[in-house]
Amino acid sequence: MHVAVVGTGYVGLVSGACFSEFGHHVTCVDKDEKKIEGLKQGEMPIYEPGLQKLVENNAEAGRLKFTTDLAEAMKGADAVFIAVGTPSRRGDGHADLSFVYAASEEIAHAIEGYTVVVTKSTVPVGTGAEVEKIIRDARPDADFDVVSNPEFLREGAAIEDFMRPDRVVIGTDAERAKEVMRELYRPLYLIETPIVFTKRQTSELIKYAANTFLATKITFINEIADLCEVLDADVQDVAKGIGLDGRIGRKFLHAGPGYGGSCFPKDTLALVRTAQDSGAPLRIVETVVDINAKRKKAMAQKIIAACGGDVKGKVIAVLGLTFKPNTDDMRDSPSLDIVPALVAAGATVRAYDPEGMDEARHMLSDVEWCKGAYETMDGADALAIITEWNEFRALDLDRVKDLLKAPVMVDLRNIYNPQDMADAGFEYTCIGRAKLAAEG
Ligand code: UGA
Repeated sequence: MHVAVVGTGYVGLVSGACFSEFGHHVTCVDKDEKKIEGLKQGEMPIYEPGLQKLVENNAEAGRLKFTTDLAEAMKGADAVFIAVGTPSRRGDGHADLSFVYAASEEIAHAIEGYTVVVTKSTVPVGTGAEVEKIIRDARPDADFDVVSNPEFLREGAAIEDFMRPDRVVIGTDAERAKEVMRELYRPLYLIETPIVFTKRQTSELIKYAANTFLATKITFINEIADLCEVLDADVQDVAKGIGLDGRIGRKFLHAGPGYGGSCFPKDTLALVRTAQDSGAPLRIVETVVDINAKRKKAMAQKIIAACGGDVKGKVIAVLGLTFKPNTDDMRDSPSLDIVPALVAAGATVRAYDPEGMDEARHMLSDVEWCKGAYETMDGADALAIITEWNEFRALDLDRVKDLLKAPVMVDLRNIYNPQDMADAGFEYTCIGRAKLAAEG
């Protein structure tokens, strides 16, 4: 099959590379010439484990190409995927669809034979119908169908998620389009991946409902964690104890500083707006959005409290800035609330992140940037772990204690064991677990 992918952001690039790995001929298009030039040279615009190799191998095999010319990419294409950004519209939380509509207009003029136009970007319910109208108005003669095929990739595990998904959702009533989509995903049929065929608007809603449900699950366990702190209970054990119930499930019950990233914050808010506009408000999700925003801010207070209630003139070492490990993505990361609040409270913040520093430098000011974990904590009054990168999971605790001025550690991801930390002589603060006095 021949496929064009419009947009070489995170979703477009991963999808394009993976479709080419399935054996299809893929051309990825982007307006950004620098990005396309870079991709032709094998330079990745994002950090995603395994992506570089996948792109290189398939480009070498002649199955994956990059261009700035949409018409060229769509020559002979059976399907064209729209994978452009849908950021939050400033101020009101609605998804900004201007990139999707602009791409649709361009696609309309490039359609040749029967083409399936697929929305891969996360788009509000009804967008597929609007895309269809745009193309129909621009090219009444074009032979096409518009299909919704949302992605469920997690950053940092995107290739595995594409190659071995829990399910594929395809929204269309058109039989011809279903055939093309079946053929595209044929390699997944072989590993018996469930494929959910449904109406286009249902498929669009499934994407939002999935992300919103997961964000709600995280927010639920975060609130339970706060309760655990008051009741001297342990949130890790609560998560295990409820998660073993198959109806609840163990995943996404890890309490932390609040969810971030390019998806959950934007998608929860967009669904809230869609629901309000439709006269069927989602009050649970409205509350989730509110709690999560407040939680990220409250995390700075937790660090300040661990430092005795005042950080004026103190040095705080921060490890991890990205919204989660294995990505360089800083969007809506809890660190963007925490670090400025610490600085505003008079602290000097020294920070390190394995992949996110380039991004972080644009988004955070008044920070001393360090080259490694131990350098960051050298002479600091306290250490705060915001993101659970693997390299922070097994720090040499004796060395940490020697380097810090005081053995104060705030672990917002619960990657250490409170008893071990107390035994090692740390004043250890974590999320939703009993606070033990430091030994010695
Ligand atoms: C999320 C979804 O998991 C994907 O299925 C979806 O395709 C993607 O959004 C999207 O819409 O594109 P992603 O944003 O990459 O993927 O990251 P997640 O792994 O879901 O984590 C999101 C946030 O929740 C992170 O800040 C993470 O630290 C937090 N989280 C996650 C928790 O605090 N606790 C958990 O138990 C799990």
